[in-house]
Amino acid sequence: MTDLVIKQKDIIERILTLELVRVTERAAVAAARLRGRGDEKAADQAAVDAMRRELNRLPIDGTVVIGEGERDEAPMLFIGEKVGTATGPKVDIAVDPLEGTTLCAKDLPGSIAVMAMAPAGSLLNAPDVYMDKIAIGPGYARGTIDLDMSAEENLLSLAKAKGVKPSEITALILERPRHQNLVDACRKVGAGIRFITDGDIAGVIFTAQSETTGVDIYFGTGGAPEGVIAAGALRCVGGQMQGRLILDTEEKRERSLKMGIKDPKKKYDMTELASGDVIVCATGVTTGPLLQGVKFGREIIETETVIYRSVTGTVRRIMAEHRQMEKFRLD
Ligand code: FBP
Repeated sequence: MTDLVIKQKDIIERILTLELVRVTERAAVAAARLRGRGDEKAADQAAVDAMRRELNRLPIDGTVVIGEGERDEAPMLFIGEKVGTATGPKVDIAVDPLEGTTLCAKDLPGSIAVMAMAPAGSLLNAPDVYMDKIAIGPGYARGTIDLDMSAEENLLSLAKAKGVKPSEITALILERPRHQNLVDACRKVGAGIRFITDGDIAGVIFTAQSETTGVDIYFGTGGAPEGVIAAGALRCVGGQMQGRLILDTEEKRERSLKMGIKDPKKKYDMTELASGDVIVCATGVTTGPLLQGVKFGREIIETETVIYRSVTGTVRRIMAEHRQMEKFRLD
């Protein structure tokens, strides 16, 4: 009998899971109004404002531990910012109110409003710097990939573990000049490359659905907040991921030291990036392979949201029709 009763603590977390949908929905709708306007800053700001407003309505004692810059860069949701009504559970928040600002500004596929929440102390508290990342989906022995191996070694090791030729592996890489070494390694072993111009949170998640996405491995350098959020989602759907902050200046090392990072070269495993009961929630802004974008109708606004919860491994997709349009006019 007792197993059947939902505990009070769990009720709060279960309700919060659904409350996060409202947060990313509002951010997505706000940003979507500025799709294709060529103004990345305005779209990002709209998403930030909507996300902050919704977060501050939640019964949580939340702290942004990784996100869009630090206090001096406000009015972004800055690292260290307190969110929520300060009445509920203490939680860490990782935010990317508009992942793929350029995609949104150019009305290209794949921009999303996304955030992660976990009990206090569960998400990596770090400055908004770059992170070296590597990720694969579920079903492989631990150690199949490693940030300390070369790109070529990782590709060969993954091909062996998958029981295929390296030429049957596809890597997903952010198209940037800094990734030429990864491109060269793929070309050398004959692996395919799927380039993306932006949006590596989805890139990491795609590795967990290789049969449908055709992506076996993600590697390269992207944003650290995106790395933490992606790790939370990958923990839910299964896979392996490692990340290492790029703290290549004294100033960055000092900032990270203040946040408790003593070893600037530390390699973080997926569960060190995001541990505990992590909830990751994302709503589509522009339609892409992960989510439908916001649709504006005469009477209805439609959104699609996906929520990952690591403790149960549940992935929920919520298609919502919003009829109270005036609520969104606050945006
Ligand atoms: P923004 O939404 O902040 O523009 O991030 C998009 C993105 O492509 C991320 O997915 C990725 O982690 C990061 O930018 C890579 O950074 P950069 O564009 O500086 O190479």
